[in-house]
Amino acid sequence: MRTQVGIIGSGPAGLLLSQLLDLQGIESVVLERRSQAYVLSRVRAGVLEEGTVAMLRQAQAGERMDREGLVHEGLDIAIGDRRHRIDLKKHTGKTLMFYGQTELTKDLMDAREALNAQIVYEAKNVSIEDLDSKTPKLRYEKNDKKYEVVCDFIAGCDGFHGISRRSIPETVLKTHEQVYPFSWLGILSETRPVSDEVIYVNNWHGFALCSMRSMTRSRYYIQCAFDEDLEKWTDDRFWDALRTRLPRDAAELLEVGPSIEKSIAPLRSFVAEPIQHGRLFLAGDAAHIVPPTGAKGLNLAASDVHYLSNALVTFYMDKDMGLLESYSHKCLKRVWQAERFSWWLTSILHRFPDQSSFNRSIQVAELDHLMESDTAQAAFAENYVGLPF
Ligand code: APR
Ligand code: PHB
Repeated sequence: MRTQVGIIGSGPAGLLLSQLLDLQGIESVVLERRSQAYVLSRVRAGVLEEGTVAMLRQAQAGERMDREGLVHEGLDIAIGDRRHRIDLKKHTGKTLMFYGQTELTKDLMDAREALNAQIVYEAKNVSIEDLDSKTPKLRYEKNDKKYEVVCDFIAGCDGFHGISRRSIPETVLKTHEQVYPFSWLGILSETRPVSDEVIYVNNWHGFALCSMRSMTRSRYYIQCAFDEDLEKWTDDRFWDALRTRLPRDAAELLEVGPSIEKSIAPLRSFVAEPIQHGRLFLAGDAAHIVPPTGAKGLNLAASDVHYLSNALVTFYMDKDMGLLESYSHKCLKRVWQAERFSWWLTSILHRFPDQSSFNRSIQVAELDHLMESDTAQAAFAENYVGLPF
């Protein structure tokens, strides 16, 4: 088989890239290790920056998001019972769209299907060959048969555990990593959210986050041990722990109900550098990971895809490699800004094991400054709504 761009992974990064390229007349083949149903069963964050929203509309996949998504203009930060609203719109003129990544993935799949996309699900043992030539190849197996796709370029959109990043020689690839000593336990429930807007809580018992997918579906998270056993968390235990951590006024309004999803996610900061080698370009979680504090993961995947799709379109239109050559540098500049913000927000909101009184007082000072200074709120808002790309 021959294609222009071979894409590994059908998460948001791979699907969005494939769709944007198709709309510009560039052909691609997507190889996905899992089944379509599995990809659609993953529950992840759901906070979209305006740049991401614009790209989904450009990809002709924004109709349901525009109908069902919730537009938020602000959020709350709390420490103990003290709670303060940050007006994101006032400071930036921008808003955020709350729309689950699962729904967004489904919309992108439908949009791809409408254009008769070539997506191979359950493609096993995907490997990359001849990366340094002008015709790199993707090999894979399906139903015990072997296949080869000859490409002009390969996009590694296969997430943190994929094979793309590992195809860049160790002598070239530098990685930067920080693993945090806690995880997030998340719950999805058919209950009314405690608040119209998100609440990020620093509590002595640990971090908590109140979010939502709709006005009847809540998404809550609490900080838990790094190696927490999900089996030990009944719904009742989760609700009790959450209630203890919320500011009193929110705790009183907390509506509880059976969970429809419950999962644990570790927190990690990770950046690979460079994210291009030969004709391979990494995008999304394959290239970098942020802790979920700040909800930047999906938005970074979208900004990578923005730079990569533009660079590929320019190449095919003008035979100009310039934007492809500057891809890694451009993406990583923005990625490090989001890494800094997510790391900072994580560090001021969580309870760290063996936290010293000095460190705790610094957290309180950071949050006091954020709650009391308009300038600090403007800087927070600028980062939270997403830096321009
Ligand atoms: N071969 C083919 N596909 C693979 C392989 C492989 N060897 N390894 C992984 N994949 C697939 C995964 O099954 C997954 O469907 O690649 C896809 C990667 O998708 P995501 O992990 O969703 O990553 P990405 O598209 O970069 O999305 C960005 O934003 O909210 C964050 O982390 C969250 O997923 C989210 C991300
Ligand atoms: C979510 O709604 O799932 C969510 C919101 C904000 C975050 C992370 C996740 O920082």
